[in-house]
Amino acid sequence: MSGLDDVIAAETRLSEVDGANGRLVICGHSLDALAGRVSYEAVLALLLPGLLSANREVVRAELAQARLRAFREVSRLDADLVSLSLTEALRALMARLPDGEDKSVALLQIAAPAVFVPALVRAKRAQKPMPPHPGLSHAADMLAMLSGNVPSTEQVRALDTYLVTVSDHGLNASTFTARVVASTRAGYASAVLAALGALKGPLHGGAPGPVLDMLDAIGAPDKAAPWVDAALTRGERLMGFGHRIYRVRDPRADALKAALNQLGAAGGWDPNRLALAEAVEREALLALRAAKPDRVLETNVEFFTALLLEALGFPREAFTGVFAAGRVGGWIAHACEQVETGRLIRPQSRYVGPKAA
Ligand code: SDX
Repeated sequence: MSGLDDVIAAETRLSEVDGANGRLVICGHSLDALAGRVSYEAVLALLLPGLLSANREVVRAELAQARLRAFREVSRLDADLVSLSLTEALRALMARLPDGEDKSVALLQIAAPAVFVPALVRAKRAQKPMPPHPGLSHAADMLAMLSGNVPSTEQVRALDTYLVTVSDHGLNASTFTARVVASTRAGYASAVLAALGALKGPLHGGAPGPVLDMLDAIGAPDKAAPWVDAALTRGERLMGFGHRIYRVRDPRADALKAALNQLGAAGGWDPNRLALAEAVEREALLALRAAKPDRVLETNVEFFTALLLEALGFPREAFTGVFAAGRVGGWIAHACEQVETGRLIRPQSRYVGPKAA
């Protein structure tokens, strides 16, 4: 019962996570038909047909205007907020945005993390935030606001692949949270804020940063086996491995590894980093099979997420925020679906406490 394993808590037309076969379908399209092939704007049009135009150029223009609107909040960045962890600062900024169930609220929620994360990264480096450029795509603009330069085609394609790949994933903890809050008719901003809180946890969207910490701690391929064995002996969990639904390799791991290889080939990235990661992955899978023979523990989305976002110039403390910049499309889509088709989510519980006198 704990963790609601295998409980069907909603019907959705948005995505299907086939854990037995390692397949992800988003709005009728398999992941490999989307990742690396379509833009984040295109997948938003699939996820939100009732809200957004089917014309990607229209979606691109509307999202650009929403980024400009979000940037107005950045001028109010204060030292206290910047001193928080990046995820907590993002949460505080998102909390300032207007609530409601209309299109303008939804668009602003979708656009905001892509504006706030780069602004917070730069503010923490004492660099001026870069304003959005409405002529750029969502992924290109996020990278431009981060670095201050127009990104390469390969970099834009890599971030688009990431945002598309993580955009929706069934009833994961943060999406379920968004649905519960939307079911009370609290509004899309409240649903996203609650979902962001759930995403922050290391068992969920807080995992990719610690993946890099693990790679840095191991340092070289020949150190992987002893390090992993010692961590498991200490009862620690290996970040980037295991999944509640996937009983085989998470299909998103290979989608992101392919994006990393394409990015690497375009130059500007250290292939030794991937070689170390592949060695760590190999040793981790062997050790997990030995330690937990009765439990399938495979590579999940976060392992190669860490390397891809690092290669794109995001600091590890921003990884959860970048995850939110992609998943927010799914959170809003599920919130809309819940409002349109659902009713208040209110499960039962079994009381096992002391009996009343
Ligand atoms: C995401 O639901 C989604 O779709 C999430 C997500 C999405 O797109 O929204 O896919 C994104 O959250 C991916 C997961 C990111 N988290 C991590 O990488 C953190 C490390 N992974 C784990 O903590 C764990 O695998 C979970 C939380 C992801 C899933 O765990 P479950 O299904 O709740 O299983 P469990 O915690 O009950 O573990 C079962 C056993 C336990 O051993 P015992 O106590 O029974 O002896 O497996 C062990 C666990 O200790 N185990 C691990 C492990 N994962 C599970 N042991 C070592 N390392 C791990 N990574």
